[in-house]
Amino acid sequence: MARDGAVYACQSCGAVQTKWSGQCPACGAWNTLVEELTSSRPPGALKPSKTTRGRHLAFEGLDQSTPAPPRMVTGVGEWDRVCGGGVVPGSAILVGGDPGVGKSTLLLQVAAEAARRGARCAYISGEEAIEQVRSRAQRMGLADAPVKLAAETSLRAIIDGLKAEPFDLVVIDSIQTMWSDNHEAAPGSVTQVRAAAGELVRLAKKGNLAVILVGHVTKDGAIAGPRVVEHMVDAVFAFEGERGYPFRILRGAKNRFGATDEIGVFEMGDSGLSEVKNPSALFLNTSGERAAGAAVFAGIEGSRPVLVEIQALVAPSAYGTPRRAVVGWDSGRLAMILAVLEARCGLGFGDKDVYLNVAGGLRISEPAADLAAAAALASSAFDVALPQDCVVFGEISLSGEVRPVSRMDGRMKEAAKLGFRRALGPADVEKPALAYTGANRLADAIQRIHDSAWEDRK
Ligand code: TYD
Ligand code: MG
Repeated sequence: MARDGAVYACQSCGAVQTKWSGQCPACGAWNTLVEELTSSRPPGALKPSKTTRGRHLAFEGLDQSTPAPPRMVTGVGEWDRVCGGGVVPGSAILVGGDPGVGKSTLLLQVAAEAARRGARCAYISGEEAIEQVRSRAQRMGLADAPVKLAAETSLRAIIDGLKAEPFDLVVIDSIQTMWSDNHEAAPGSVTQVRAAAGELVRLAKKGNLAVILVGHVTKDGAIAGPRVVEHMVDAVFAFEGERGYPFRILRGAKNRFGATDEIGVFEMGDSGLSEVKNPSALFLNTSGERAAGAAVFAGIEGSRPVLVEIQALVAPSAYGTPRRAVVGWDSGRLAMILAVLEARCGLGFGDKDVYLNVAGGLRISEPAADLAAAAALASSAFDVALPQDCVVFGEISLSGEVRPVSRMDGRMKEAAKLGFRRALGPADVEKPALAYTGANRLADAIQRIHDSAWEDRK
C-alpha cells in the first residue's frame, strides 16, 4: 500500500503509479520507479475560483485571420532555420542531447549573437560556474556580447530575477539541475523537472519572453528524461553528433511554429560551433577515388538536399552466424534490403559478414536511401566500383521494385552542383538533370552495377 501522498514516478517515461514495482508497467524499463511526494493538488488541476466559474467560452472560427508570429532572428543562421525563421517571443524551446554533445556551446552562441543584435538575453547555468561560462565565451570570441550571466539552480531565485528585469530570451542550462522548493523530490527527478519546466513555460507565456531549456538525455534513464516536458513546450530540438566527428546536427522533433523536419548543421571547432552552409560538401569525402562498396546517396534532410556516402563491406564469414553491423542507418532496414537482394536478385549473403556505414557520422532515416544501400552492398559483393560521378536514390519494396521518392529533381540538381554527372534511380523520371539510369526492378539495377552498363543520354 502506498503511503498517503506518495506516488511512484518512472524516471524514464514519467508515468505515475500508485504502487511500486520493479518494472515500469508503462514503458517496461527496470528499476526506474522512484517514490515522490505529491503536492495536495494533482498537476494541471484547475483551482476552483470565483472569477472563472460560469464564464462563457467565446468560440472563434478557423477562417479568422491571425498575423504570423513575430520572429526574433538570433543571427545563428542554422538555429534560426530550425526554429522556422527565428525564435518566436513568448515560446518555450527544449533542446535535448547527450552530455558533451555541445548544447551549452550552441546556446551560449545563440544568446550572444542575439544579444549583439540588440535582444536582451540571459544565460543561467546550473551546471557551470560563471568563470567557466565566461572563459568559454572568451575562447569562442563572444566576450563582448552583452549577455547577462548567472549561476543558479533555485527556481524561485530565477523566476524572481527574470520578473525583476525585462528579457527577450533566456537560456536555462539545464532543466535537470533546477529545483523548486514547492516540491520535496530531489533535483533531476520527474517531479522537479516537470515543476521547473511548468513554471518557466508559464513565465515565458506571461512575460512574452522566449525560454530555451536545455535537457540531457541519458539512455539508462537515471536522470529524468526531458520527455516528460515535451508536451509543455512549443518546440523540441534534438542536438546530435557522433563522438569523434566534428559535425553536429540540430534536428527539429516538434515545432508549433515551423516545419519539424528541418535540420541545422554545425561543425565543432576550437572556437565553438561554426555553421555549415553546404552540408553535402562536408559529408562527402571528395578527395580520392571511391572504391568498390561505396555509393553516394542523394538525400533530403529537412528542406535541403544532402549528399552522403554509404559504404558497405561484404566479407566471407568466419563464424556460423554471420555478422551484420550498421552505423548511421536502421539495422531492420538493412535486414530487409539483404532479404530482398537474396529473394529477388539471387544475391545471397547467408555466409557473409555485412557492414554498412554512413560516412561523416550522419544518421539517415529516409527510405529513399534503400537503393543506395543496395548498390553499395552489390558493389562490394561484385567488387565493382560504381562510376565516381554517380548518385543513387530510390525506395525498395519487398516485391523487389524500385519506387519513386520525393523531390527527385532537387536531389539531382544538388548533385549536379557538386560535379556529379550520373544518377541511378527509379524508372520513368521526366527530364532528369543528370545522365540517368532508371530501373523498375532492383534486379535490373543490380545487373547494371554488375555489368557496369550505364546510360549516357539525359
Ligand atoms: P558542451 O557545450 O559543454 O556540451 P553539453 O552542454 O552538451 O554537455 O560541449 C562540450 C564539448 O564540446 C567538449 O567536449 C569540448 C567541446 N568544445 C570544443 O571542441 N570547442 C569549443 O570551442 C567548445 C566550447 C567546446
Ligand atoms: Mg552543458
